[in-house]
Amino acid sequence: AQSAKESLYIVSQYAAAFFVKQLWETDEGKGIGLSYFKERGFREDILKKFEVGYSPDVWDALTQNATNAGHKLEFLESTGLSIKNDNGKIYDRFRGRVMFPIHNFTGRVIGFGGRTLKTDKNVPKYVNSPESEIYHKSNVLYGLFHAKKAIRDLDNCYLAEGYADVLSVHQAGIENVVASSGTSLTVEQIKLIGRFTQNITILFDGDAAGIKASLRGLDMILEEGLNVKIVSFPDGHDPDSYMHHVGAGAFKTYLENNRKDFILYKANVLLKDAGDDPIKRAGIIRDIVESIAKIPDQIKASVFIRESSNLLEIEESVLLSELNKIRSGKV
Ligand code: UTP
Ligand code: MN
Ligand code: MN
Ligand code: MN
Ligand code: MN
Repeated sequence: AQSAKESLYIVSQYAAAFFVKQLWETDEGKGIGLSYFKERGFREDILKKFEVGYSPDVWDALTQNATNAGHKLEFLESTGLSIKNDNGKIYDRFRGRVMFPIHNFTGRVIGFGGRTLKTDKNVPKYVNSPESEIYHKSNVLYGLFHAKKAIRDLDNCYLAEGYADVLSVHQAGIENVVASSGTSLTVEQIKLIGRFTQNITILFDGDAAGIKASLRGLDMILEEGLNVKIVSFPDGHDPDSYMHHVGAGAFKTYLENNRKDFILYKANVLLKDAGDDPIKRAGIIRDIVESIAKIPDQIKASVFIRESSNLLEIEESVLLSELNKIRSGKV
């Protein structure tokens, strides 16, 4: 008999195919799901490549279909595709949503993100598969299977926040992109990227949450010994909205021309808050040196100290002594 794990892969693949079929071949899927994707500007080849789908707005469409096809309820439940309520009634986790299957880096479906089509603020925008024996969120990067070759070839990995961002960046012809979807960035995810490249370029959303996450993310990346750059987006745009806003060509150029190293990025973000307040400005310098202190490679760190010295117009010796204080745990 096949292992329980294998059964979970099989039922997940079955569900992915079911959602794809709903999207392209049913009136509800075409009328609601496919037209939603088209209105957002997604091309059919991208939708097909990422195997996006649609879950019908019915209580138990997948559960019924899959069990009729011989799949065991047990496996539908342990992948979180089916849920049993307190009365023992079984229903689908994903209903009336456009579906993004999540693949592991060998290409097997391990989970899903489902986006609502409603604008009602009380409905969660995304519902995600729960952790399961085959889906450990902290170890998974959305899009890695489709990106890994390009990441190696181009020796850089763009890191975005969401499912739609990955699709849109691909649509712009940039294939070395993944997202930390459904969780905030983890050390395991950074290590996973590190198997393919030492260079990460963060493309987080241009809103307050995205900026905060990017500051946290860049420190984590430095700590893992990888190189990090950041491209930020104007006016609250995310990579997806910005790509559709300016078009594929201009988007590509934007990424190439707006890649900031982390010192410049941090300085820009923090200086905006500090204004002319000298105490706040001093705090920023410390903050930047704290990021540099996370870099395990001393030679690399000293290069960034020199750069900061030039950029912030502070004596290198002052920054170095600050760095040594932080390193020796005195601050
Ligand atoms: P965003 O709120 O930025 O959504 O969350 P998005 O990716 O831009 O989605 P669109 O463009 O409105 O469709 C970023 C990511 O965080 C996760 C999802 O992975 C999402 O892609 N997220 C967000 C959730 O898991 N649940 C949520 O309710 C919201
Ligand atoms: Mn786990
Ligand atoms: Mn956001
Ligand atoms: Mn977003
Ligand atoms: Mn978005």
